[in-house]
Amino acid sequence: MTKIPVWYYDEMKFSGVDFSRMEEVAAYDSMHRKLRDYARTTEAIIRRLSLDSGSTVIDLGCGTGAFALHAAGKCRTIYAVDVSRAMLDYCKKQAEEKGIANIVYCHGGLLTYEHIGEPADAIVCVAVLHHLPDFWKQVALTRCCGMLKPKGQLLLFDIVFPSGTDNLHQAIDAWISSMETMVEARLAEEAVIHVKDEFSTYDWILEGLIQRSGFDISSKEFSNGLQATYVCTKR
Ligand SMILES: C[S@@+](CC[C@H](N)C(=O)[O-])C[C@H]1O[C@@H](n2cnc3c(N)ncnc32)[C@H](O)[C@@H]1O
Repeated sequence: MTKIPVWYYDEMKFSGVDFSRMEEVAAYDSMHRKLRDYARTTEAIIRRLSLDSGSTVIDLGCGTGAFALHAAGKCRTIYAVDVSRAMLDYCKKQAEEKGIANIVYCHGGLLTYEHIGEPADAIVCVAVLHHLPDFWKQVALTRCCGMLKPKGQLLLFDIVFPSGTDNLHQAIDAWISSMETMVEARLAEEAVIHVKDEFSTYDWILEGLIQRSGFDISSKEFSNGLQATYVCTKR
């Protein structure tokens, strides 16, 4: 980006949980290891996107490396991008311990990361887009489209409010409670912060934004009430 306008969103400022703090990063990793099986989830993404040893993938908002560290063994190069240096350091340390050498670490984000080199085969963006208000989600998704090869794929997972739900308040309560049942009270507290202070949106808004950014939606799945996975293909 040549010149950043004064009104541009500051994505380095955290909405919700402050992932610039190493204690938050370690706590996040420990809770999420209880919530999901990183290796199994990554395998499912790799299969869903038909990635292989020739693939280049951008993990936008890589966090502690839930996807990147496992995908590195199956793909050619993973670009691990995050606005939090603490997250990147945590991911890098684990990669070094495991002898993984094909991850490129990039301090940047959905609105500022500049992908240099060949356009990517795929972008994986898990639980990140809700950090941006809707206007900026569209900016981010359009930028994602620009980083991909023709027919490149974007796998987007996030907390999304489903428009067809009769009682959305009940669905939100149930999702928050499930975080305590599956993991611990602290994750439920963070789920409250998520709904209160972060920018999850309705499915119909998100789908409009995805389509207007140059993607077709190839599939959409909801799990646990509010957890949406979209696979999107660059038009
Ligand atoms: C809920 S965590 C998800 C991390 C990882 N994708 C995972 O599956 O565990 C959200 C991550 O997004 C990062 N993040 C927040 N805003 C971002 C932005 N605008 N661009 C890129 N990453 C962002 C945070 O630093 C954090 O690492």
